[in-house]
Amino acid sequence: MFKSNYIFALQAIIFFVACTTSKKSATGVSDDFIKNNFSNATTMLNNMLKTADEKFSVKNGAYPRTTNKEGKMATTSMYDWTPGFFPGNLWYTYEFTKDPSIKAEAVKWTEKLEPLQYYTGNHDLGFMVYCSYGNANRLAGKPEYKNILINAAKSLCSRYNATVGSIKSWNRFNSWHGNASYDFPVIIDNMMNLELLFFVTKITGDNYYRNIAIKHAETTMQNQFRPDYSSYHVICYDSTTGKVVAKETAQGYADNSTWSRGQAWAIYGFTMTYRETKDPRFLKTAIGLADYFINNKNLPEDGVPYWDFNANEPGYTPGVKSYANKVTTKYRDASAAPITASGLLELSTYVSGKESEKYKNFAIKMIRSLAGPAYLAKPGTNGDFIIEHCVGSIPHQSEIDVPLVYADYYFLESLIRLNRINKGQALIQ
Ligand code: GLY
Repeated sequence: MFKSNYIFALQAIIFFVACTTSKKSATGVSDDFIKNNFSNATTMLNNMLKTADEKFSVKNGAYPRTTNKEGKMATTSMYDWTPGFFPGNLWYTYEFTKDPSIKAEAVKWTEKLEPLQYYTGNHDLGFMVYCSYGNANRLAGKPEYKNILINAAKSLCSRYNATVGSIKSWNRFNSWHGNASYDFPVIIDNMMNLELLFFVTKITGDNYYRNIAIKHAETTMQNQFRPDYSSYHVICYDSTTGKVVAKETAQGYADNSTWSRGQAWAIYGFTMTYRETKDPRFLKTAIGLADYFINNKNLPEDGVPYWDFNANEPGYTPGVKSYANKVTTKYRDASAAPITASGLLELSTYVSGKESEKYKNFAIKMIRSLAGPAYLAKPGTNGDFIIEHCVGSIPHQSEIDVPLVYADYYFLESLIRLNRINKGQALIQ
């Protein structure tokens, strides 16, 4: 009897010691989970670098974006909207691993983008220059990086129209419905480019950039959302009066539907704008947008959305010219998940109690799904991009069920953010 009591007491002590000494992270996500994902990212990126170098030498300015029909890496021009993400992926991986060879590649792929600082052909300068040079400046700054970021902000602001109160996204938008064409389209994605402007005000002390960012966010808040906080993709303005002339979609299913990645850009963009302004209107908007996403009846259980929240639903009709008319498969867009997850992790730091837990836990659920067998590619497959099953644009019959370089970027960013929460560090650095 005495012996069994003794053993029981000993077992209880061992259990207590194990519980109190085992590392319980602030997120419930173990350090090993994050480490293993960055180890996998290092393998994938090292594989990609060989192909990326080859492709760049054949075609100057070619940056990894997705895969072709053979499942091999496909590139786009650095003047398309995505070149910043590949160096960004290298920067985030270097940030976690401190691997000097990854850093050298990050520098190389960033500095090839130097001409972009004077590019004024679209609104994507934030994606193109801040994801590359912004991270470079943060992790391995050189004086010239700041000048490049300032020039890029000037280029972006050259597209601002004070009458509309917005930065023009594309030079033209052709409606899916017929022959209508608009010359001042603003897309919800544009919210992401404002981070560059807030940053440049901080390093120059000149409020010019910040004021444009705030005005753009206010105009977006006024026109781009429905009462339930779902988003329109494209708002077309009359550039001489500032009036809204059309509310349509380019990459979503229908004008009145909610394109998943657009909603993700909105959540992230308004959360970031709240961070930079502390204006409660922007927080309220970010919360409304986030709740629309996470409470949506059409969101699958794993938290990774279909490409549009209303794809193939009654009451939603694509324009006659849209390829969405021909697609009955409800594809997931895995790229919308990490953008949302990263935004929700930040949003969780601006609210408290149960609300904070709700956003953080939802983000973690999405990240765990993405890191699971359904979405995480095996090395040597998927063009060595990390995440599978994304959609670029179904209406354009382009990039359907493929990897996309920006899905990897926001996945890695989410892991960096989780790691900072685990370590008790500031989420935004
Ligand atoms: N910003 C373009 C896209 O999300 O496809």
